[in-house]
Amino acid sequence: SLYRLIDRLKEKRTLTKDQWVQLISGRTPELAEYLFSLAREERHLHYGHDVYIRGLIEFTNYCKNDCLYCGIRKSNRHAARYRLSEDDILFCCRMGYELGFRTFVLQGGEDAYYTDDKMLHLIRSIKKLYPDCALTLSIGEKSYDSYKKYFEAGADRYLLRHETFDSLHYSRLHPPSLTAFARQECLWSLKEIGYQVGTGFMVGSPYQTAEHLAEDMLFIRKLNPQMVGIGPFIVHHDTPFANQTSGTLELTLFMLGLLRLMLPKVLLPATTALGTIDPNGRKLGILSGANVVMPNLSPAHVRKDYSLYDNKLCTGMEAAEARQSLERLMESIGYQIVTARGDSLNLPSGH
Ligand code: 5AD
Repeated sequence: SLYRLIDRLKEKRTLTKDQWVQLISGRTPELAEYLFSLAREERHLHYGHDVYIRGLIEFTNYCKNDCLYCGIRKSNRHAARYRLSEDDILFCCRMGYELGFRTFVLQGGEDAYYTDDKMLHLIRSIKKLYPDCALTLSIGEKSYDSYKKYFEAGADRYLLRHETFDSLHYSRLHPPSLTAFARQECLWSLKEIGYQVGTGFMVGSPYQTAEHLAEDMLFIRKLNPQMVGIGPFIVHHDTPFANQTSGTLELTLFMLGLLRLMLPKVLLPATTALGTIDPNGRKLGILSGANVVMPNLSPAHVRKDYSLYDNKLCTGMEAAEARQSLERLMESIGYQIVTARGDSLNLPSGH
């Protein structure tokens, strides 16, 4: 039965592609509850009831790419574009540090304005001011050489979702200039260089099948990343996917539970997209096995412009300055926010 498949996943930390498909397509609410109880148990074993926080700084919404799902795609003429200066970004870090953040995530579109020299200067400035903090980059596909230089300048972690493993599915979500192969090559390079790596995918993206999700799980198992970010696909009205259907809370939670059982020590965020499709999304994510939240630390006046999808949250619990309300929310379900770098317990060798 499907319950035995979950037991098998817990025991062997892997399944065959067919078994993944069976589990994902045959899931029921009762099966999900069983999965979540094992996922929580696993998470408590390694990370207790701690929840790690990351300050997310969305420093540019200019992007040279034209991903069909994304609101900041190059051809969206309605996007109000902005860039933060190094001083703006350092100010965000200062605010974040005072609020107890010990990881800063610099996320942006693929924006040629930030040359390697500008990025290296920024990385060095942040690491010099905050040597006790981890610095995460999330700025897309770069050359091996650039990734290496950023790492040597002090960047610790890199987030780059593989989006979907299947190359045909990938090509239906992206312009021809981007390929699944190139994306995966970047991830292998990042690992080789020594970054703590995060990958991930959207749940319920257009044309996605249970087979695709099964292959995503097999790929993630092989990559063995330190972090996996997943969230529901959410429609953005100014994209070619304006008339598609968004992904669901239910399937996203189920995938979170499966990820926790497959990679017990992985860092698993309850993402903004999860909080956006359901007011209880963040909380339910934590109860399904997630152990990280990434509140928004960008200057308040640009937050609404980093609009990857419709109604993207940037206030309430999503805002870094609301650390206290986030703390209360987590305490209400028996968890606590911690002021720590929150490194993975599954670190790259030599670190
Ligand atoms: N819905 C949900 N997630 C999205 N992303 C981009 N656009 C959307 C959308 N419409 C995700 C992608 C990307 C990350 C930064 O945001 O997976 O990797």
